[in-house]
Amino acid sequence: MAETQESAPVVAADSNEAKPSEATQNTAAAAPAEAAKEDTATGGATPEAPKKPVNQALVEAMEKFRALGQKAYVLGATGEVGKELVKELCKAKVFSKVILIGRREIKYEDDLYKEIDLEQKIVNFDELESKHEEDFKGCDVAFCCLGTTKGKAGVEGFKKVDHDYVVNSAKLAKAGGCKHFNLVTSQGSNKNSYFLYPKTKGLAEEHVQELSFQRVSIYRPGLLLCDREEKRFFESVFHKLAKPLEYFMPTAGTAPTVSVAKAMINNSVTPNDKAVEILTNKDIRILAGDVNPRK
Ligand SMILES: NC(=O)c1ccc[n+]([C@@H]2O[C@H](COP(=O)([O-])OP(=O)(O)OC[C@H]3O[C@@H](n4cnc5c(N)ncnc54)[C@H](OP(=O)(O)O)[C@@H]3O)[C@@H](O)[C@H]2O)c1
Repeated sequence: MAETQESAPVVAADSNEAKPSEATQNTAAAAPAEAAKEDTATGGATPEAPKKPVNQALVEAMEKFRALGQKAYVLGATGEVGKELVKELCKAKVFSKVILIGRREIKYEDDLYKEIDLEQKIVNFDELESKHEEDFKGCDVAFCCLGTTKGKAGVEGFKKVDHDYVVNSAKLAKAGGCKHFNLVTSQGSNKNSYFLYPKTKGLAEEHVQELSFQRVSIYRPGLLLCDREEKRFFESVFHKLAKPLEYFMPTAGTAPTVSVAKAMINNSVTPNDKAVEILTNKDIRILAGDVNPRK
C-alpha cells in the first residue's frame, strides 16, 4: 500500500511570493483572462468587488497544465460538490475534455457549459466491471465526489456507494490509464473507527491508495456549506450551528462546496511528487484561496 502522508498544502492562498509548489488563489484567477474578468461566482473581479491579488504561480501552473491537453472524468457530477466542480472546470478550461460519469444525465443550459468539451456517460454502478470498462479509458485525471447517506440508502446502501462504487470506479480508472485520482471523503475519516461513516470513508481511502496510482489526493472537508437541493434535517441544523464557526474559524470544520471544487482543481494542476496526499479542511480552504496560510 502506498504510504499515507498528511500533506502541507501544496497550493496556498493569495500571495505572489509563494513558490510554485506553494502557490495560491482560485481557479478564476488562473483561467484565461476573459473568463476571469467575467467571473463572479468564484470571487473573480467585478466592478464592485475588491480584486484578489493574482497568484502568478498558480496562473503559470495552470497554463503549463493546460498545454498538456489532459482529459478528466468526474464521478458524482450531479452532487453538490460535483456540480461546483463541473462549473469550475468550465471556467478554468485546464482539460482538453471532461467526461461526466454518472447514473443519470444532466441538462446543462447555461452557455458556460459549452465552453469546454463536456461529455456524459451514463453507467450502472452495480455493473461497472462487467459493462463499463470502456467508459473509463483514456483519462489522465479522475475527480470522485460520489456519496450518499445512511438515511437515504440504509447501512448497506451507504457502504455500497461510499466504498464499493468509489473503489470499483478507481479500479477501472487505473486500468484505463488514469494517473491522478482525486477523492473527496470527509474530515474524521478513519478506517479503524467504530462508527459507520468515518470507517467507510477511511476504508475507501485505503483501498483507493492500494491501487497505486501515480498520485492520489484525498480531500477531507468538514461540514459542506451549500444550498442543498435535497433537504437533510440534521445537516440543516448543523448549518445553523456552524455559521459562527465559518465566520470566526473558516478552516476548522466547514467548507463551501465551491471551495472544495476549487481546491481540487488548483491542486490537480500543481505538480507534486508525493504518491498520496491527504488534504485537511484547512488545506482545502487554503488551496481554494479562502484564507491566507500566513495569517
Ligand atoms: N454533507 C456534508 O456536509 C459532507 C461533509 C464532508 C464530506 N462529505 C462527502 O463529500 C462528498 C460529496 O458530497 P456531496 O454533498 O456533494 O454529495 P451529494 O450532493 O449527495 O452527491 C453525491 C453524488 O453521488 C451520486 N450517488 C449517490 N448515490 C448513488 C447511487 N446509488 N448510484 C450512483 N450514484 C450515486 C449522486 O448521484 P445522483 O445525483 O444521481 O443521486 C451524486 O452525484 C461525499 O462523499 C460526502 O460523503 C459530505
